[in-house]
Amino acid sequence: MKRLLLIPAALLSLIACNNADPQLGKASIDQVLKAMTLEEKAHFVIGMGMAGSDGNSAVVGATQDIVPGAAGTTYPIPRLGIPSIVLADGPAGLRINPTRPDDPNTYYCTHFPIGTLLSSTWNQELVESVGTAMGEEVHEYGADVYLAPALNIHRHPLNGRNFEYYSEDPVVAGKTAAAYVRGVQKNDVGTSVKHFAYNNQETNRTGNNAVISPRAQREIYLKGFEITVKEADPWTIMSSYNKINGTYTSQSKDLITTVLRDEWGFKGLVMTDWFGGDNGAEQMAAGNDMLQPGTALQYEQIMNAIQDGSLTEAQLDICVKRCLELVARSPKAKGYAYSNKPDLKAHATVTRQSALEGMVLLENKGVLPLKDVKNVAVFGCTSYDFIAGGTGSGNVNRAYTVSLLDGLKNAGFQVDESKKDAVLKHIADEEAAFKATLGDNSLAAFYPVPRPSELQPTAAELTASARANDVAIITFGRNSGEFFDRTSADFHLNAGERKLLESVTKAFHAAGKKVVVVLNIGGVIETASWKNIPDAVLLAWQAGQEGGNSVTDILTGVESPSGKLPMTFPVNLMDAASSRNFPIDATNEVYFMNRRENTNEKDVDVTKYEEGIYVGYRWFDKQNMAVSYPFGFGLSYTSFEYSEPTVANDGKTVTATIRVKNTGSVAGKEAVQLYVSAPAGTLDKPVKELKAYGKTARLAPGESQMLTLSFPTSELASFDESKSAWVVDEGTYTFLFGASSRDIRCTATAQAAASELPAHRVLLMQ
Ligand code: BGC
Repeated sequence: MKRLLLIPAALLSLIACNNADPQLGKASIDQVLKAMTLEEKAHFVIGMGMAGSDGNSAVVGATQDIVPGAAGTTYPIPRLGIPSIVLADGPAGLRINPTRPDDPNTYYCTHFPIGTLLSSTWNQELVESVGTAMGEEVHEYGADVYLAPALNIHRHPLNGRNFEYYSEDPVVAGKTAAAYVRGVQKNDVGTSVKHFAYNNQETNRTGNNAVISPRAQREIYLKGFEITVKEADPWTIMSSYNKINGTYTSQSKDLITTVLRDEWGFKGLVMTDWFGGDNGAEQMAAGNDMLQPGTALQYEQIMNAIQDGSLTEAQLDICVKRCLELVARSPKAKGYAYSNKPDLKAHATVTRQSALEGMVLLENKGVLPLKDVKNVAVFGCTSYDFIAGGTGSGNVNRAYTVSLLDGLKNAGFQVDESKKDAVLKHIADEEAAFKATLGDNSLAAFYPVPRPSELQPTAAELTASARANDVAIITFGRNSGEFFDRTSADFHLNAGERKLLESVTKAFHAAGKKVVVVLNIGGVIETASWKNIPDAVLLAWQAGQEGGNSVTDILTGVESPSGKLPMTFPVNLMDAASSRNFPIDATNEVYFMNRRENTNEKDVDVTKYEEGIYVGYRWFDKQNMAVSYPFGFGLSYTSFEYSEPTVANDGKTVTATIRVKNTGSVAGKEAVQLYVSAPAGTLDKPVKELKAYGKTARLAPGESQMLTLSFPTSELASFDESKSAWVVDEGTYTFLFGASSRDIRCTATAQAAASELPAHRVLLMQ
C-alpha cells in the first residue's frame, strides 16, 4: 500500500530560492499564503506520504525522514522558508525507531502507563505532569506534534483500543485529556487530540458508519472533546476513520467546522487519521485542514475540484492558512536545536510513580500490603513477561520492561526462579508458532500476540511451593491493540488460567498461605465468577516499562492504592447495552478486506448506537443491574470518612465542598466523585451523572482535607433534540458525593433556574 511521494523533499530544497519571496517566520502568514501557487497549496495540505518507510508501515505511519519512525511529516516549501515538521505517535509515550542505520546511538523512549491507567488515577495534576515528561521527549527527539491523547469513549469492553482511551464517562475522558494536553504543550510542542469522533470499535474502522442520535453524540461522544478544547487549547485535532450518520467525520462540515470551531471556538488545525476518508476536496471543504500521511490521489481530487468549481481556492486557503500557522509555531520553524537526549532516567521515575496512582485494588482479604513476607512464589506466564502497553501505533519502543519477577527481586524478596527459563522458552515458542500462522498478512507486525497458555505445576510442585513460600502471586495478562477488537474469549479467563488459579489457591490455602492475583490487562475482563477465589486482586493495568516495580510498590505498601475504575466491570459481557450492537467476535479478516466475510459478527458496515446516552454506569444504574465492580470503585489500605457536604449554585458555577478524613492507620489519597441527579423534567435523564471529581493530597492517619469540586452551571443541561438546545430544567438538583458510583457517602441539594442554550441543528441521523 505504498503511496507516491508527491515531490521528493531533496528535490524541493534544490529549487531556487528567490530572495524576494516572503519567508515564514519573517513575513506574515497572509503574505506567505499570498505568495503560494495553487499547486504549492494543494501539496502543502497533504503530508509527505509513506514512501521511504519501512515494510511494516503500510498502515501505521513511519517515516524515515528527519525523525525515523515518526508517523508523518508535512510538505516543505524551502523557497518560502517553510520546513517539514514531524508528527509522531502516542499516546503512551513517543513512538519513533529506537535505532538508526549506521548510527551507534539509541533513541529509546519512555513507555509510560496506558491511557486507562492514567484516567484511573482521577488525578488531573498527576496526568499533567506525565504529559510534561512525554512532551519533553517529543521536543528533545525533534518531533513537533505528538499524536495524542486519545479519548474515545469506552462504549464497549471489547474495543481493541480502549487501553489508549480513558473512560466510559465523558467528564473523566475530557478532564484527563485536557490535563494531558496542558502537560505536553508546556514543552512548546503540539498535541493531536484523537480520534474525533465516535471511533469506538476497530472492526471495519475505516468504513464503519456510526449511527448515533444527536443527543448521545453531544452528551457522550463529543463532550470529552469539548472539555479538552475549552480547557486545554490543543494545537491540533485528528479526525477519525469512521462515518457519522453517513458521512466520514473528516468530510463532515457539521462536525469539523460547525461544532468544533463555531460552537466550541477551536482555533487550531484538524488533520485526518492516516489515510482516513475518501475525498480530499470534501475534506478541505469540511475544514479538515491537513491530510495525512498524504496520497497523490488526494492532490488530484483537490486540483480537480478547484477546476470544476466544487471547491474554491478561498476554501482551500482557509486550510492552507491553518497549516501555515501550525508550522510557524513548531519547534522546527523556530530552529530548536533538539538534543536527542531527553531525561530518560527522570522519566523512568515519573512512569514508575504515576503508575502507582492508577492501579486499582479490587479485592483484599487481609493480605495486602504484604507483611512478614520474604519468599514469594510467582505463577502465570505474564509474571515473567510483563506487558508494558498495547500494540499498534500506541506502542512505544522502550529500552526495557520490568517484569513482576524482577520488580519483586528489586525490592529484596526471595523469588523462586526455578521455572524461569522454561517459562520464557514456552512464551517464545508459542509466540513464534502464532506468528508463523500469520504468513505474509500485511498487518502481521501489529497482531497482539495472544497470551501464552499457562504451564500447570504438578500437585507435588504446588505443595512444595506452598511450604517454601510465604505468599503466591499469580499474574493474568491480556494484550490488545489497534486494528483488532477483542474477542469474548479474551474477556473471560480461559480454562488453563482458571485451573491455575484454583490449584494454586487450594495448595496455598491448605498451607495457611494467601494468594494475590495481579491483572496486567488493558481492558475490562470478566471477574464475577472467580474474584472470590484468591485473597486479593490488584488491577495493575499495563503500567509502562517500570510495571513490575510499580506493582511491587503497591503490594508492599510504599503507597496505598488510590486508583478507581473509570469504567464498569459488568457481571456478563452481554450486560452492556452496547453488546447488542457491537461486532462481538469479529474476525480480523473483516477489517483487512473491509468486507463481511468469514465472520459471525453483526453488521460491521453500520453500528447503531441504539443505547443512546445509556453507556456504562448510566445504563447499569437505569436498569438497577448488579455489576462486578461499579464505575468509580477502588479499595485502599486505609479508610476515609466524608462529612460537611455543601453545594451552592450562583447561576454560573456550581461549587461543592466536602471534608474527607483518613480514618485508617496508613497514609493514603482518596478520589471523590460528584454526581448530580436531576429533578424530573421533560427529558429522560440518567439516574445520576458525574459532573466533577477531585483527589485529596496524601493524608496521614487522622488528617482531613476540604475538597472543592466545581463545574459550570450550564453543565446541568441535557441536549433536547426537539429544540436543538442545551436545556437546564428548573428545580432542585441533588448532588451526590461518592467514593464510587454505587457508594454515595453524602448528598446536598441546590436549586437551578431554567435555561436554554441553542446549538446548531447538525449531525442528524438519516
Ligand atoms: C491510528 C492513529 C495514529 C496514526 C499514525 C493510525 O492508524 O489510528 O491513532 O496516530 O495511525 O500512526
